[in-house]
Amino acid sequence: MVIKEFYSVSEAAEILGKNPETLRRWDNDGKLQAVREPMSNYRVYKKENLEIFPEFKSYFERIDESNYVEPINNYSVLELFAGAGGLAIGMEEAGIKCKALNEIDKWACQTLRKNRPNWNVLEGDIREMDFYEFKDNIDVVTGGFPCQAFSYAGKKLGLEDARGTLFYEFARVVKETKPKICIGENVRGLLSHDNGKTLEGMISILDEIGYNVVSPVRVLKAINYNVPQKRERLILVAIRKDINTEYEYPKPYSEIYNLKDALKKGKLFDSNVPKSKGAKYPQHKMDVLDLVPPKGYWRDLPLDIQKEYMQKSFFLGGGKTGMARRIGWDEPCLTLTCSPAQKQTERCHPEETRPFTVREYARIQTFPDEWKFEGSVSQQYKQIGNAVPVNLAKEIGYSIIKFLNNIQLNEKPKINDEIEVISTF
Ligand SMILES: C[S@@+](CC[C@H](N)C(=O)[O-])C[C@H]1O[C@@H](n2cnc3c(N)ncnc32)[C@H](O)[C@@H]1O
Repeated sequence: MVIKEFYSVSEAAEILGKNPETLRRWDNDGKLQAVREPMSNYRVYKKENLEIFPEFKSYFERIDESNYVEPINNYSVLELFAGAGGLAIGMEEAGIKCKALNEIDKWACQTLRKNRPNWNVLEGDIREMDFYEFKDNIDVVTGGFPCQAFSYAGKKLGLEDARGTLFYEFARVVKETKPKICIGENVRGLLSHDNGKTLEGMISILDEIGYNVVSPVRVLKAINYNVPQKRERLILVAIRKDINTEYEYPKPYSEIYNLKDALKKGKLFDSNVPKSKGAKYPQHKMDVLDLVPPKGYWRDLPLDIQKEYMQKSFFLGGGKTGMARRIGWDEPCLTLTCSPAQKQTERCHPEETRPFTVREYARIQTFPDEWKFEGSVSQQYKQIGNAVPVNLAKEIGYSIIKFLNNIQLNEKPKINDEIEVISTF
């Protein structure tokens, strides 16, 4: 699609990644208003009204070629809050070596050790560990710290004001180890958490410890990075202040994958999904979900069953599109959660009335089939549901390699400078 002055409702929906129903709601509550196109009198959206959404820019940035960059040096990462390794595998696949990983959960640590016996897994509570041994010895620190509010004493937040939060621990480790770049991964909700003050506080703390945050902080949509799932992750990037090289977020791809690409042999995987254990629905839920077609949800049920199934929620309004939801083969999966059979976030298999199995979950998060998860079935779902999708992490990895390569290239003396030195003899 080329950039133009007016967009139809369906074009605007595609660009923003929303359905036309959502746009109609936004029109009513003033968030994004349509106008009448002067010639046809159709409802359309003006370019200037769409441009304020970051999705507009990234839609027109989309590329067909790969973001792949070859590392010109051996780069290494210290991964905090490592979980079952989604982000770490992506970094490794991109070409960045995992120097060490910290994680408190014993099952997640067992998963990491089982799959990568040579990784340095530091099991334990980050609050009780220091990382000075990695000082000036790693290029990147990454971490998906949970989002917690700060208490505000003064205007500009300093590191000490954040004590007691896990972001404090992330920033402390960055301060101890001094990497060239650090990457914080979080949920989109961090943007609006405490009216934006939490994120503002994090930016000011990173500034205090010698890091500039790349602005604006962006939320990346996994579907734009070879992941068959509508998951979003906020990616906070900060660069050490003595470095004068720019960081660029990875470019989104044009191709979007769907559930079929995740579970069947095709472009993403070279075989059908392996068989594995999985959760089951109780009988009453199966009876209800049996009536829902692929891509359907509670509104597709007969009215009396809707009321009975939804109970109070039926009268509360709002879309609740996650309730009694069955995914279709030809759409990306909705965001997976830590447990596959929650009422608000059901993601039923398209043909069978059951939640996705463990291996199906892992495929939707783009984990390789060889990556085994340790612990009970529910521990395994939790580890997978918590992860950064591997393919998204790999693309972030490429963007870091590009940045680190550029630092090195910028530092090298230019040929002309060398010639000048010789000619002064
Ligand atoms: C969102 S998950 C990280 C997922 C991981 N980045 C991935 O891609 O698989 C957050 C992790 O932080 C861990 N965690 C929470 N509190 C911790 C602490 N005090 N010390 C170390 N790890 C902690 C949790 O056990 C959880 O695995």
